Amino acid sequence: MSSTKNEILTYAGYPITELEDVPYEEIVLLLWNLRLPTESELVSFRRELVSQMKLPAETVRLMGRIAKEPQHPMSILRTTVSLLGTTNDNEHDEPPRILAKMLTAVAAIIRIRNDQPIKRSKPDFGVVENFIYMFSGKRPTREQIEMLNTVMVLHADHEFNASAFTARVVASTQSDYYSCLTTAVCSLKGPLHGGANEQVFKMLETIKQTGQDPLEYVERQLASRQKIMGFGHRVYKHGDPRAAILREIARKISYETGNEAYFEMEEQIRDFMFEKTHLHPNVDYYTAVIYHCFNLDRDTFTTMFAACRTAGWLAHIMEQREEGCLIRPSSEYIGETNRHYHADKEAHLHE
Ligand code: ACO
Repeated sequence: MSSTKNEILTYAGYPITELEDVPYEEIVLLLWNLRLPTESELVSFRRELVSQMKLPAETVRLMGRIAKEPQHPMSILRTTVSLLGTTNDNEHDEPPRILAKMLTAVAAIIRIRNDQPIKRSKPDFGVVENFIYMFSGKRPTREQIEMLNTVMVLHADHEFNASAFTARVVASTQSDYYSCLTTAVCSLKGPLHGGANEQVFKMLETIKQTGQDPLEYVERQLASRQKIMGFGHRVYKHGDPRAAILREIARKISYETGNEAYFEMEEQIRDFMFEKTHLHPNVDYYTAVIYHCFNLDRDTFTTMFAACRTAGWLAHIMEQREEGCLIRPSSEYIGETNRHYHADKEAHLHE
């Protein structure tokens, strides 16, 4: 599990800076078992995930209908996860199969929305390689696999963020995996959490398309007390350690794909925001440009986040189930007390 003690992000005690190039599936096992897997465990887990990257036929049929509606992809994902929890085989689902299905569902949503056929996983491809292949339809280059692997590792878990906490609350009632994951997706969707990556790119596109000066745009937003998406964090007040790593990936991929104008705009806004507000970019700031460079539509960015974060959600759900303790905070009513129903009703009648 992850921790952000002293603003240093660790997974099961290992600093994230030592894990950025580790295969995503190894990170998943680390989060789930709190120890590094042996080589044979890793090989068999990889094989299991790849072989399970498929969806029940009935889910695919229903997805074909709902994904074509003019709905937000995160709403489609929410409904898809819920649908997965109603198929006959969900009773036998365990975390590896569930993670494989979530990756497949996100890739399928991206394909269906673009009127493209769903791709089957290839047994000789790795997990990240298959994921890219299944959403893009093309075999990725080694460099693309490495870049997206790091993005996936950095998004795998983040202690008690809003969506993990939501999943834990549901898990604490001993509800099923899919119910927990459905609520986690709902929570991630919001722009103050995972939905921020889409809003970051919306801002960059607006500035580019309208030919505005980025700094004047940001200044106007701040003057009207609007938040600049992709900045600030509840935990990190001196910079998000994930953003530093993602910045370099965004720089590299944006220049390689001819999207450097977006990255350079981000650099300008980053410096300006620090000067004006002392706020730092968070994890969502640079992924916006990275996902765009992977040819993804802006409104699918948060589904990518959900795909990566499923590893962490499942780790939290498993831990919460083991604890067997119901999360039930109490609230304190601070309104008027000592009121009397009949006396107040009588008084209203005479008003
Ligand atoms: N742009 C402008 N001002 C900001 C921003 C921002 N992005 N973030 C915080 N502030 C300001 C607030 O307006 C507030 O100002 P005030 O004291 O004058 O009222 C002050 O900084 C403190 O802000 P809070 O919202 O209280 O800080 P908090 O730690 O609670 O918020 C949050 C963290 C919700 C992430 C916030 O920074 C924000 O809304 N950022 C934009 C959305 C975003 O990028 N979310 C993704 C977060 S990472 C993730 O969830 C994966």
